[in-house]
Amino acid sequence: MKIAVLGSGRIGGALAKKWARAGHTITFGSRDPDKPELKELLKTLGGGATATNAGAAIHASEVVLFAIPGATMAESIIEHAKVLDGKILIDAANNMAGHTLNSFATFAEQTPKAQVFRAFNNYGWEDFENADFAGGPADLFYCGPDGSARATVEHLIQEVGLSPLYIGGVEHVDLVDAVLRLWITLIRERNMGRHLAFKVLTDAPSSQAG
Ligand SMILES: NC(=O)c1ccc[n+]([C@@H]2O[C@H](COP(=O)([O-])OP(=O)(O)OC[C@H]3O[C@@H](n4cnc5c(N)ncnc54)[C@H](OP(=O)(O)O)[C@@H]3O)[C@@H](O)[C@H]2O)c1
Repeated sequence: MKIAVLGSGRIGGALAKKWARAGHTITFGSRDPDKPELKELLKTLGGGATATNAGAAIHASEVVLFAIPGATMAESIIEHAKVLDGKILIDAANNMAGHTLNSFATFAEQTPKAQVFRAFNNYGWEDFENADFAGGPADLFYCGPDGSARATVEHLIQEVGLSPLYIGGVEHVDLVDAVLRLWITLIRERNMGRHLAFKVLTDAPSSQAG
């Protein structure tokens, strides 16, 4: 699968590493595709990964991961709305100072034909870089439209080493974001460390879920 990763920092880098290893073609959409840190990152990802500007990366890809600062999301979505519309979009960005953490309102307005998912926003990058936890794979809570695009996002979550836990449609985005608030509270106020993730325990067979 061709994946555009907007933002070559901690989240973009950690997820791109896992997806490149799984055989996907990664194109970073960067403000500076020639910067030394990005060149170093590309070397670790092998031949399947390249870098260009955001517009070209989106154009070349079927799936787009947003891993840029939350405060820059609206501007980026508006700038690239035409080429984003119709694609599978994953919003991992958190606008910590904004009215909401996610950018779903802007997506709904600007890219009405896109299939937008909220995923990879509610754990730290360390949990994606190293998803091995004692007690089995942790759950990754996510939401978005049901259907074939959901299956694609589930695969991408599994390839990071986590177990996808579908909360439901886009109306559940605030609940997915609430998981981040719990995660932050446990690491900051309870000092539980950033290598922390959640798992749902149930007697229901997994076939009954989702
Ligand atoms: N850090 C975490 O553990 C974590 C966890 C979950 C979600 N998130 C969210 O994921 C997003 C990325 O977080 P991160 O920790 O990966 O951040 P980061 O390490 O600072 O990387 C962000 C990347 O975004 C790109 N970018 C585009 N516009 C930018 C601007 N105006 N200022 C700075 N960078 C800009 C840069 O890549 P180029 O220079 O290549 O353009 C930069 O490397 C944020 O929205 C954050 O809230 C972070």
